[in-house]
Amino acid sequence: MSWGHDEYVYQMLKDYLPEEGLYMLRYHSFYAWHREGGYDHLLDDHDRKMLKWVQLFNPYDLYSKIPNHLIGTNSGPIMKILYRNICHQL
Ligand SMILES: [Fe+2]
Repeated sequence: MSWGHDEYVYQMLKDYLPEEGLYMLRYHSFYAWHREGGYDHLLDDHDRKMLKWVQLFNPYDLYSKIPNHLIGTNSGPIMKILYRNICHQL
């Protein structure tokens, strides 16, 4: 894994979001894990429990790059929750 936007957004929001949301953000580009099922030998039970949240977020990541002014009106329910929680706490 590399240090990219996933880790950056995780570091910026780790004090503001619940753990499920943090897993969504931190590992959303880790397709070898959440889509292909790789690295299972490195997971613990907690990672396996969080996997479903990362997979739930995935449809809202790919091909969902929209202008900021549209967030909240044209995005999925998870994005709306993230937006509402983040923007009102920063
Ligand atoms: Fe991304």
